[in-house]
Amino acid sequence: MNYFEYKNDQLHAEDVPLADLAQRFGTPFYVYSARTLRRHFRVFDDALQGTDHLICYAMKALSNLSILKLFASMGAGFDIVSVGELMRCLRIGADPRKIVFSGVGKTDEEIAAALEAGILMINVESRPELHHISTVAGRMKRRAPVSLRVNPDLDPGTHPHISTGHRDSKFGVPLSQVDEYYAEAKGLANLDLVGLSTHIGSQITDVAPFAEAGEKVAAIVKRLRTAAIALKYLDLGGGLGIPYAETPPPPAEYAAALLKPLRELSLKLITEPGRVMAGNAGVLVTRVLYLKETDVKRFIVIDGAMNDLIRPVLYEAYHNILPVDRRKLGQTVTADVVGPVCESGDFFARDRELNQPREGELLAVMSAGAYGMVMASNYNSRPRVPEILVDGAEAYLIRERDTFDDIIRGEHIVELKGGS
Ligand code: LLP
Repeated sequence: MNYFEYKNDQLHAEDVPLADLAQRFGTPFYVYSARTLRRHFRVFDDALQGTDHLICYAMKALSNLSILKLFASMGAGFDIVSVGELMRCLRIGADPRKIVFSGVGKTDEEIAAALEAGILMINVESRPELHHISTVAGRMKRRAPVSLRVNPDLDPGTHPHISTGHRDSKFGVPLSQVDEYYAEAKGLANLDLVGLSTHIGSQITDVAPFAEAGEKVAAIVKRLRTAAIALKYLDLGGGLGIPYAETPPPPAEYAAALLKPLRELSLKLITEPGRVMAGNAGVLVTRVLYLKETDVKRFIVIDGAMNDLIRPVLYEAYHNILPVDRRKLGQTVTADVVGPVCESGDFFARDRELNQPREGELLAVMSAGAYGMVMASNYNSRPRVPEILVDGAEAYLIRERDTFDDIIRGEHIVELKGGS
């Protein structure tokens, strides 16, 4: 459910016509709907009512400061994966006691920054990481709250690039070694063993893998109790899919699957949803530059490109593409929708049936709120596009378009001693 809807055949973000935004800010741009973001958070939160829980929004999905502030104001915590993300949290005044830190490659500096900030827990993914955390905490004369991230060895049935819960992935501690890890961690100085965590992948559209992961980690928690290790938090990660083309289960069904094996454990449940919060709350608005026909294909060349949204080429992802103005629709054609970047991988859709747009017309690439802007780059020296947040009839510019100076910031022209 989202608030990008046609009113009088003109696509709106809430009460604001996208065409007005294009006129005001130029194209391409990302626009997010605050009402949709709030709704997604509320629905997810409601699904977990009756269980002691904390939603740590996986900010890697969409990390603009204004978006983080919106979620924090609703009571969300954050799942972070770098010191940069930690600093974003601190910048918006987020409560550090609601931050969990995931990732396979945390540096000592990042560990120190997290301990200094006083976050809720660090999700540990390897034996050497445990030792590093213990050492860093000792140096800082602090105790480090840690949780082990377990790899439950299952197939979440999603694209291989975003699947993390099978045994040959780099993520988490193998199931077979979990007990040894906890025993070892117990013997290390300065560590508080507070939790257990897992995250099996992203854009998962079936509840069965979540239920399976839940059962596997619940069994571990019980076993650890008999070894006198009493945990406080169970972090079941994120991963719930959204309807790009597929039909994922509603949050209530997902929550029921998570909660079933955890009922009798009386731990605080932590979840790390990213995509389900932000995905359908954002669209990328672009303008048609050229229509081009070859002997075998029809191309719609738009001003957005793979540097703005890399998901189609990276994950073969489907994003619906809608005309912003559907008052005068062209005939239905089959075309590739492509950007100006010099790569064949620069496409938004291939062999897609859509209404033939006119040159200069606006197109909206839907469901682009998650893993869109955050994965944008300056490839081809293209400026990263602005981000706009709509709330009712108000539109706020929450990130400016890069200038040329932004693109070359930090570069130096050096005089080479070797000459030319
Ligand atoms: N927690 C951890 C430890 C994660 O690694 C992730 C995502 C999440 C939570 C949030 O998962 P979500 O609820 O958003 O599925 N760039 C890819 C997605 C990468 C996901 C990485 N990890 C894409 O565009 O599909």
